Amino acid sequence: IPVEPFDCVVFGGTGDLAERKLLPALYHRQVEGQFTEPTRIIGASRSALSHEEYRKFAQDALKEHLKKGEYDEAEVAKFCERLYYVPVDAKAEQGWGELKKLLDDGKERIRVFYLAVAPGIFGPISEKIRDHKLITKSTRIVVEKPIGRDLASALELNDTIGRVFKEEQIYRIDHYLGKETVQNLMALRFANALYEPLWNAQHIDHVQITVAESVGLEGRAGYYDTAGALRDMVQNHIMQLVCLVAMEVPSSMDSEAVRDEKLKVLRALKPITEANVEQMTVRGQYRAGASAGGPVKGYLEELEGGVSNTETFVAIKAEIGNWRWAGVPFYIRTGKRLAARMSEIVITFKPIPHNIFDAAAGRIAANQLIIRLQPDEGVKQSLMIKDPGPGGMRLREVSLDMSFAEAFNVRNPDAYERLLMDTIRANQTLFMRRDEVEAAWRFVDPILKGWEAAGQQVQGYTAGTWGPSQAIALIERDGRTWHES
Ligand code: BG6
Repeated sequence: IPVEPFDCVVFGGTGDLAERKLLPALYHRQVEGQFTEPTRIIGASRSALSHEEYRKFAQDALKEHLKKGEYDEAEVAKFCERLYYVPVDAKAEQGWGELKKLLDDGKERIRVFYLAVAPGIFGPISEKIRDHKLITKSTRIVVEKPIGRDLASALELNDTIGRVFKEEQIYRIDHYLGKETVQNLMALRFANALYEPLWNAQHIDHVQITVAESVGLEGRAGYYDTAGALRDMVQNHIMQLVCLVAMEVPSSMDSEAVRDEKLKVLRALKPITEANVEQMTVRGQYRAGASAGGPVKGYLEELEGGVSNTETFVAIKAEIGNWRWAGVPFYIRTGKRLAARMSEIVITFKPIPHNIFDAAAGRIAANQLIIRLQPDEGVKQSLMIKDPGPGGMRLREVSLDMSFAEAFNVRNPDAYERLLMDTIRANQTLFMRRDEVEAAWRFVDPILKGWEAAGQQVQGYTAGTWGPSQAIALIERDGRTWHES
């Protein structure tokens, strides 16, 4: 369905995010016929480029980042026609008048300001937007993580943006919410009668969430070393996954209804503090090893001689203190340079209450529902069946396995495509509300402080493995094991 004409002003228009994600995402939406005229995309950053030079930049970006067969000369030419560029300085007057002139051309459009820049300049840019009277009735602002590096800085950042924009104008992106399979979690839970009655502490033994990456620092040492896996992945993406798994059924898909329920989950997380941080968390850092068939450097070597206690891996045993989840651990792990790029959510149901089969039938495995987020997106439900044949009653575990790529022969859109169009449609359901971000920090902050107070060091793990042995101990101590697909 086409969206209304819009101007999307991308601050950081020549940056990495614009190049790798935003321009390709917008291109795909054009190809899908979602744009109506006169839609424009306006790059803005400090670099002194002309409109023409920016079009060339975008063309190169598309050449490099679109998949084979997606780059279409005519389509790219049409895309470039809607591109403009204004050199602006977030902290000085330069360029703002010109941007205003370009925007105020008398045509009616929705206006989006996308802040693909460091959070340090969210404030200055917002103020400039206000001071130059660039805010129209249909203006929204989109911000990217990191929203703060702890609770205090997140509050401050939200205040700064909040002084200029109303909450309903602010779109805080968590790109995990734009992933097809993440949204599917809601479909699976709330469009099927099958699971919801079982979706609680009475029937679920535990939940595992793994977001494993095989990549290392990818040239982002400067940012990453000040963040670490807890801030980079858990505070945002993984907390959102926990919310979607654990939340109550919202009254509708309305953005406030959904976010109200997610917020309750975040608020019910049992605190992890100095007192229990060592039992409940593991921090890891990769050492040299092998990944994707070749040798790779360790984290410290990638930092080039640095000394660092930053974690590139974290495992947490989280608990949600409410009726639905009392006593059900949520084991979470994420890290860089792990054995594979693999993200999944595993729901393990409780064992059957009583076994009527004799020993020869074999072991009865607990049912598991596995939601594969990436790659090979899909859903798998394990079941026990009778092994075929006349050899008596032998039981065997099989799975109903559905791979989305096999089931649907369609391109899997990138998360940014969905999210960008949602900003135009003014649908905030898949964006984080202010109180959610802050509640996630309220859980994460005491962990950071606990690590510091307890002097919890990172445990080394060899690149290309599943993380430090302590992470395995974290779950095996409870008589459970990580699911490895
Ligand atoms: C980003 C993190 O938010 O998510 C990166 O900053 C991480 O460190 C990335 O690599 C993972 O995203 P995806 O979509 O590749 O799973």
